Amino acid sequence: MSDFKKKYGSYALITGGTSGIGEEIAKIVASKGLNIVLVARRQNLLDEKSAELIKKYGIEVKTISADLTLKEDLEKVLKETASLEIGLLIPNAAIENHGFMMDISLEKELAAIQMDITSVFVMTHHYGKKMADRGRGGILLVSSMIGHMPNPYFANYAAIKAYIANLGFSLNYELNKKGVDVTVLSPGPTDTPMLQGAGDGMDISKMPMAIQKPDYVAQLAIHGLGKKAHIIPGFKNTMMVKMSKIMPLSKAINSGGQMMDKVMNTGK
Ligand SMILES: NC(=O)c1ccc[n+]([C@@H]2O[C@H](COP(=O)([O-])OP(=O)(O)OC[C@H]3O[C@@H](n4cnc5c(N)ncnc54)[C@H](OP(=O)(O)O)[C@@H]3O)[C@@H](O)[C@H]2O)c1
Repeated sequence: MSDFKKKYGSYALITGGTSGIGEEIAKIVASKGLNIVLVARRQNLLDEKSAELIKKYGIEVKTISADLTLKEDLEKVLKETASLEIGLLIPNAAIENHGFMMDISLEKELAAIQMDITSVFVMTHHYGKKMADRGRGGILLVSSMIGHMPNPYFANYAAIKAYIANLGFSLNYELNKKGVDVTVLSPGPTDTPMLQGAGDGMDISKMPMAIQKPDYVAQLAIHGLGKKAHIIPGFKNTMMVKMSKIMPLSKAINSGGQMMDKVMNTGK
């Protein structure tokens, strides 16, 4: 049995594992022999992606159709996995809203908080406790570059991703003592349906960051799991995060704002 499977088996639970970064992570984890629980809303995509994984890697896949903006669906995920040994948790699915925050409905922003913070926290607490009791396991939390710098017009999403990163950094230390690896992945713009969807009203070509492929981001993430506390894919994106941390806050806010005014075509 491989070290990866010994440490993180027998099941990896991946939310949003039917598309983009999550789908690529699912393929890599399956290639290492772990069974997988795929969570997303659309059952047809869950069926299609699970059949591909079973055929190619000969593993077991359980699918759970759940809308993680709903508390009852989060409960359903916990219930339906009660008999499985989840050794690797990747609560990757997230929704983002962008634009002038006061134009975004409160309902949409609260749904993002429920899915991107509450569901991630509940799963991390629930499965993380079982991993700590077992003395082994791994958690890969998916933040974003945006979580490490001021990002006007992505205010709630940027704050959500800052929460996820900080949760992961602290747990990296706490859970290390219990044999559980915690790594934070902070991608920059990545060519997935989320980025394509975000194109609405935005000119992505005006972003100074490199746009990356989801398979590259997924490879770095799984390679760094247990070795690094934080992974920012790509040199340019890593430097941008570092720069924003060393410059005075007012300058970081203004340069982030000016960049986003161009990207969002605000005319300012
Ligand atoms: N793409 C980027 O530029 C970028 C940059 C930085 C960080 N990230 C982060 O990377 C992660 C993955 O993003 P991605 O771009 O790879 O996403 P994506 O390709 O758009 O895939 C989203 C996945 O989440 C599922 N999903 C969406 N809404 C859901 C809901 N309400 N309940 C349950 N599942 C839901 C989707 O399936 P269904 O639609 O069937 O539910 C799909 O499997 C996210 O945490 C995102 O914040 C992405």
